[in-house]
Amino acid sequence: MQFPPSRFSDRIAAGPAGSPRWWFVGVIFGRFLYMAIFSDPIEVRGLRIKHRILMSAMTTSRAEEDGAPSAWSHAHYKARARGGAAICFTEATYVNQEGKGFPNQLSTHDDAHVPALGELIQAVEEAGAPLAVQIYHAGRTALSAITGMEPVGPSPVPHPTEDEVPREMSEADIKTAVKAYGDAARRVREAGGKILEIHGATWYLCQQFFSPASNRRTDGYGGTLENRMRFPLEVAQAVREGGGDEMVVSYRLGLLEPFENGFTVEDTLALAPALVEAGVDILHCSRNARVGLPVMPDLYNPAFDRLRKAVEVPLVANGAAFEPSRIQAYLDGGADFVGVGRALLTDPDYANKALSARDGEVIRCIECKPCAYMTNSKCPDDAYPSGMPESMGEILEIASTMAGGGYAPTAKKRLTTDAPIEEQPEGSSIS
Ligand SMILES: Cc1cc2nc3c(=O)[nH]c(=O)nc-3n(C[C@H](O)[C@H](O)[C@H](O)COP(=O)(O)O)c2cc1C
Ligand code: SF4
Repeated sequence: MQFPPSRFSDRIAAGPAGSPRWWFVGVIFGRFLYMAIFSDPIEVRGLRIKHRILMSAMTTSRAEEDGAPSAWSHAHYKARARGGAAICFTEATYVNQEGKGFPNQLSTHDDAHVPALGELIQAVEEAGAPLAVQIYHAGRTALSAITGMEPVGPSPVPHPTEDEVPREMSEADIKTAVKAYGDAARRVREAGGKILEIHGATWYLCQQFFSPASNRRTDGYGGTLENRMRFPLEVAQAVREGGGDEMVVSYRLGLLEPFENGFTVEDTLALAPALVEAGVDILHCSRNARVGLPVMPDLYNPAFDRLRKAVEVPLVANGAAFEPSRIQAYLDGGADFVGVGRALLTDPDYANKALSARDGEVIRCIECKPCAYMTNSKCPDDAYPSGMPESMGEILEIASTMAGGGYAPTAKKRLTTDAPIEEQPEGSSIS
């Protein structure tokens, strides 16, 4: 559904030059339209999404050790639902043990977790937002120390920041992995989920197959663009089948890899409509901020623009919406939704504040960067000069009783939390 052209609101807000009275009227109307655009609902496959501000997926490492949601998971997602996010995307959940990338990661790999996942979905819905479960397989970025298994990937090419050389997946391995995504989607449906997201970005298994940098295969899953698209498309089909006709399926994709052998925007323009054909309803455009790559608006914005022209499904833009005005810029640029990450970590009430034009009250993420790994993080100490907000109360209370460290705003995460980690977190160099 098309929303009103927001540049019109800017024009109204600007008002006729030299007229203070008209300027004032313009500001009031402009502000009104600005909020109307934020709060305009969209319906996707029968699911009414109440406005445009979504909580982006963020790994927390605070689930139970076996992947079941913890009390902290409940408090964390409920706070953002109460705070007004139209959809809360979960952290990436692993579809099988081989694809687990972090300790205490939420999981969709086990039928035994369906009831607990269902309780989480219901609790977050009651707090105000559908919970969209993100599903993924870490591929070559999985660590054997976490999975107890050899990491696998399309080819025996290690991730730039990992030492382990993955085992090349056989065709049987590929079929098993595809089935695992489909089974994970089925579990989300059985748990009562209405929406899920396939994580096809930031160098996880789907992207590893899509990218010539990590896929050197010479069989039907590598080489030509058509072959590199095969794995993500089989995953999308399996997920549509497992999730059923009523499930809203989002696919998170990178737009391009700006390095030698990386996939190009032309590749993405071929993949995107094929994903839609395979049953994907929403495309969530990642900035692929990982392994220290700079995230360049001069690459992202033109690529996003081309994708906008190539597909008709709703697009989610993502990154650095620390101020609500940035959301407006994304909507102006053709996005239907904006995924908000770190700004919602520091302030669970960000969406409500943005929707009610209380931008000045947002507790701003100060972009200290080590968010994901919490080494030398400035959250909470520097990010909350006036103290922690009430909306963080339950989250902090539960976190204080937990043995393992997670991410913002407390303690640390990953395997050995004392060792410095060179790799930059996803989203770390967003501009
Ligand atoms: C702590 C942390 C964990 C993240 N984990 C995931 C994840 O599990 N799945 C995913 O798709 N993106 C993940 N991201 C990326 C975010 O969804 C988002 O795209 C990124 O942070 C940029 O948005 P922001 O500038 O609003 O934070 C993570 C980001 C952070 C900060
Ligand atoms: S740790 Fe830093 S980057 Fe992460 S949410 Fe807190 S202030 Fe923002």
